[in-house]
Amino acid sequence: MNVGIDHIATYVPNRYLSLKELASARNIDENKFLIGIGIKEMAVPSPWEDIVVLAANAGYRVMKEAGISPKEIGLLIVGTESAEDRAKPTATHVHSLLDISESCRVYDILHACAGASYGLLSAVDWAHSPKHKYALVIATDIARYGVGTPGEPTQGAGAVAMLVSKAPRLMKIKELSTYSKSTYDFWKPMDQKYPIVKGVYSVQCYLNAVKACFSKVTINKNAVFIYHTPYPKLVEKVHAEVASLMGEADNWRKHYADKVFSSNIYPSRVGNTYTASVWLSLVSFLETCYEGAIIQGISPIDAVKQHEGIYIFSYGSGCGAVLMQGELMDTWPTMVRSFQVRQALDDRRRLTVEEYEQLLETPALPMQIDKFDGSHFKYSGVKNEERQYSRISTD
Ligand code: HMG
Repeated sequence: MNVGIDHIATYVPNRYLSLKELASARNIDENKFLIGIGIKEMAVPSPWEDIVVLAANAGYRVMKEAGISPKEIGLLIVGTESAEDRAKPTATHVHSLLDISESCRVYDILHACAGASYGLLSAVDWAHSPKHKYALVIATDIARYGVGTPGEPTQGAGAVAMLVSKAPRLMKIKELSTYSKSTYDFWKPMDQKYPIVKGVYSVQCYLNAVKACFSKVTINKNAVFIYHTPYPKLVEKVHAEVASLMGEADNWRKHYADKVFSSNIYPSRVGNTYTASVWLSLVSFLETCYEGAIIQGISPIDAVKQHEGIYIFSYGSGCGAVLMQGELMDTWPTMVRSFQVRQALDDRRRLTVEEYEQLLETPALPMQIDKFDGSHFKYSGVKNEERQYSRISTD
């Protein structure tokens, strides 16, 4: 059975900060951020744009573009590590905003950045049953480390929604290998605003996980390699390790340029999106490949023939990792045509460092809002201890 991802939609906040300006404000050489970390711009959400709003927008788009009614969704899983509540799932708000049926199974999955990937694999298993049709899996997160911290240039925000079905028009997907080990590399105690991070150790944990997962398979060096991307420079280091596992140690830079680079383009303009990160990297590869083929006047289907499948590596601190394999369907260009993520990134408004700091430190600050930048939903604060959400438009 060809179970997999029928369609993907992405939602990123409409405001961003230039890392060049952040470096200048922090008195740091800009090349540390632009080259050493590999991030040029990071997404900054507005106060009305929490993880529910990010997720609902991505979910709304994926169903609309795929031509699927919310009533056809039988399973809704939200992967997030930025939840506002320890009991009421984020997915319940998304379920309500998207008008999904009461007969739908609705829950969150928490495993740092890997939550949505585990959710996707659960949805794939679920969709194998003859009585099940469409599942919606949404990765949504706001990555924050705080002003002046080493993690500050790796912040970001965004959501990626994936529609899972038995007859996917985008890609088939299957699990290849898994790795789990209890570590304290990055964690979020309940009483702390920002995560605690052992930066160097977290990189080591990621590298151990990637080596463990790829060591369990016979690596096809002609495939594309998509990785969880906390920051693009780490993906270069990670790929150098994977390249040596497949006997390409001396050739890793060229291999990275051919098989990885295009997946790093959007993460370098958005920052870390935690659970959504690896999926944003996939979107970056697919849309870049599609647009490149159109510009060259060749068929996108022929353009991907040089690649033999797609490896998708998801990592979550704490830690867990899963290596998946994706195989594009011949209908993939029809689905990718509606992504329009590069355009959305080009259309964003640039914030000053002062505006960004105000948003980061006082996210509940009431703002005079008359424009929601294409969002269909908004968060409007807490009333009677309950978070308030509403739909802005239904076009
Ligand atoms: P840092 O310690 O400030 O940076 O922050 P650094 O001193 O290590 O420098 C970074 C790189 O810039 C180095 O390159 C420098 O040489 C280079 P490298 O040695 O790594 O090749 N550099 C320059 N390059 C050009 N021109 C210059 C210049 N100056 C320096 N002038 C750190 C780095 C990763 C610690 C920080 O960003 C951080 O704490 N980030 C958060 C943690 C993180 O992202 N960890 C990644 C692995 S864990 C993970 O992916 C899970 C996660 O997504 C969470 C989850 O699962 O939920 C985080």
